Amino acid sequence: MFIVVEGIDGTGKSTLARMLGNYLRDRGCRVFLTEEPTDSWLGKAVRQGIEEEKNPFTQAFLFFADRAEHVNLIKKHLEIGEDVICDRYVYSTYAYQGAQLETQMSLPRALSWLEKLYEPIGLKPDMVFLLTVEPERGLRRIGSREKKEKFEREEFLKRVQEIYLLLAKKYDFAVVDSNRSLNEVYGEIVKLIDKQLEEKEK
Ligand code: TYD
Repeated sequence: MFIVVEGIDGTGKSTLARMLGNYLRDRGCRVFLTEEPTDSWLGKAVRQGIEEEKNPFTQAFLFFADRAEHVNLIKKHLEIGEDVICDRYVYSTYAYQGAQLETQMSLPRALSWLEKLYEPIGLKPDMVFLLTVEPERGLRRIGSREKKEKFEREEFLKRVQEIYLLLAKKYDFAVVDSNRSLNEVYGEIVKLIDKQLEEKEK
């Protein structure tokens, strides 16, 4: 199974992806846990692009370059029967770069451009969790982190989350309210994944 965890900064996504990985391992699955941007040199270039506030087109191309390589790696792990959990995937590009591009073009046009770029690379996840949080609460949660990426501003994240919610309808994400405690959110994710596993076994 290819599972993606998405959400704005401060939703607890990385922690929950790890917890979900451990849950599946306990159930006997072999799990490959991964993330975007990756830790390859392409991923580092992506982070530099963010840091230097490159224009949204440059950023989108950087994220896609990193992802094009990453998709091959994900496929290899799926082929040997592992479950893959990916912390952020193409929907991050749709939501974040969509929000950035909106200053220059309409959102539908930006999304259709990004979707076309992704189409030939395309690897469709079996399940996408979208964690939502009040942007202000999310920002408070990550407040103690040393290095804050420039994006992490409330208004921007609010818009990113609105776009995520539009995508949730279009691509049928499981939307999970992450304003609650980590354990409550984890409990809901586990229920949803159990349901998915049951359906697969049918
Ligand atoms: P990430 O490493 O997930 O940040 P954090 O661990 O702090 O949540 O991602 C770095 C930033 O890159 C984050 O603000 C989201 C952004 N991003 C995009 O804008 N587009 C993308 O396609 C991806 C994968 C991330």
